[in-house]
Amino acid sequence: MEEEQEYLFKIVVIGDSAVGKSNLLSRFARDEFDHNSKATIGVEFQTQVVEIDGKEIKAQVWDTAGQERFRAVTSAYYRGAVGALTVYDISRSTTFENIKRWLDELNTHCDTTVARMLVGNKCDLENIRDVSVEDGKNLAEEEGLFFIETSALDSTNVKTAFEIVIREIY
Ligand code: GTP
Ligand code: MG
Repeated sequence: MEEEQEYLFKIVVIGDSAVGKSNLLSRFARDEFDHNSKATIGVEFQTQVVEIDGKEIKAQVWDTAGQERFRAVTSAYYRGAVGALTVYDISRSTTFENIKRWLDELNTHCDTTVARMLVGNKCDLENIRDVSVEDGKNLAEEEGLFFIETSALDSTNVKTAFEIVIREIY
């Protein structure tokens, strides 16, 4: 009989409020998008099974509030994480400037083995782009992160972003 190994990976999603963290998660886990989504309060998570090289992997993706006042206990949020998506909004450069702060927090709570991805979300908003692809790439390179631009609205690269992180862990 073949041995069945179960993999469960905890992945955290971080970044400023309204960059689209919750919608990236709902697009990934349920293929849903909410135009009027409310700010997250506390912590939520969803589990999604992904198949990598014929193996079933459970990705438990955690989502929290970008707004400080709505955040739950930070250390508990990061505990046990093996992957992290750090998200900004390509149409708001302040969210990109704050990436360093999010990385500082990540580095405080997780060791360097955590698979890290820089995600420029809302790439459907090309007409009001405020952060160039080049700037995203450069920051990712400086910080040793993978880089991808996504759109939770039109689904661009959402699955790929999670899969790259999961592959790196696996
Ligand atoms: P907090 O929970 O407050 O931290 O925010 P969040 O990062 O979870 O943002 P959320 O997913 O709630 O999305 C914020 C707003 O951006 C909502 O109005 C979404 O509909 C919109 N949004 C999210 N992703 C995209 C995207 O890829 N493209 C566009 N155009 N809008 C998006
Ligand atoms: Mg949210």
